[in-house]
Amino acid sequence: TSASAPPLRIQVEGGPAFEMAEGEDTLLRAALRAGVPWPYECSVGGCGACRYELVEGEVVTLWPEAPGLSERERRRGKRLACQSRPLQDCRVRVRLEAPPEEAPIPPRPLQATVVGRRSITPDMDEFVLQAPGSALFLPGQYALLHPPGVVGARAYSMANLPNAEGRWHFIVRRVPGGAGSQALFAALHPGASVLLDGPYGHGHLRAGERDVVCVAGGSGLGPMLSVARGVLAEAGPRRVHFFLGLRQQAELGVLREFEGLDPARVQVHTALSAPDPGQPWAGHRGFVHEMIAPALPAPLDQYDHYFAGPPPMVEAVQQLLMVQHRVPFGQVHFDRFV
Ligand code: FES
Repeated sequence: TSASAPPLRIQVEGGPAFEMAEGEDTLLRAALRAGVPWPYECSVGGCGACRYELVEGEVVTLWPEAPGLSERERRRGKRLACQSRPLQDCRVRVRLEAPPEEAPIPPRPLQATVVGRRSITPDMDEFVLQAPGSALFLPGQYALLHPPGVVGARAYSMANLPNAEGRWHFIVRRVPGGAGSQALFAALHPGASVLLDGPYGHGHLRAGERDVVCVAGGSGLGPMLSVARGVLAEAGPRRVHFFLGLRQQAELGVLREFEGLDPARVQVHTALSAPDPGQPWAGHRGFVHEMIAPALPAPLDQYDHYFAGPPPMVEAVQQLLMVQHRVPFGQVHFDRFV
């Protein structure tokens, strides 16, 4: 078995080298585990951020049609590190990121057991997983879950805070036609086991002085709750302006998730994009990003921003903050899921 095989050596051209076990892991995960700042966002083949060129050696491509690369890029020899499993020593060409100020927590695979599950809205459940050791992650990060019987992993963000008890909470929305979430809903009942691999992600809470804006749509609720909880767990006085985008009154049950959060420090603003005309709704109608600037007491560049949600929401918030309001790049934190 590969446990006794000598490790493979991966050399980044003009950069560091690192080792990994043969055939066991993706290039991206091995790099991150070794502390190499390989660029990435989704880690499941969708975004293209982890692209590189193989100069020497051999890799297996796990998902040849992964949408993170165009046909043209593929023809030009580009590959995705999150979809590459090296078979030999390799030499690779990639533009590494600047090393982060704090050392990231290296991701690791854990065998987890479902110990709790509850319904939040008709199509959103919270899953509580128990894994060995402490649950180590930063608020806002995500993990990959490999539900039994499903090919490939899906990325889900933790909704709780890191803890010594090994508890990982995930809020998952059942996406119509989404094989990953459908499989989780079907398979993850208390007692079921699931492989959890993490943590990953750049959209995590940073220390700072500015008040925090969180914007959440759909399953983005989980990571934004984690970020808000992280702010409240600090000794400092930072406050949170939480903008929540829902579709209909039927989803307002998610507001119960805010009950434990100190209302003096967390202000929740809710928008419904398609309110049911048959039910009362006096709040904002429309998209969540439209509410942000009018609701805040100070200009947008006075805050640190965190957001998570479906791609159109993420794009609209990015446009609002970075293009319209010129919020400096270092104050905008998110991960792109696809
Ligand atoms: Fe590899 Fe997104 S495609 S990180």
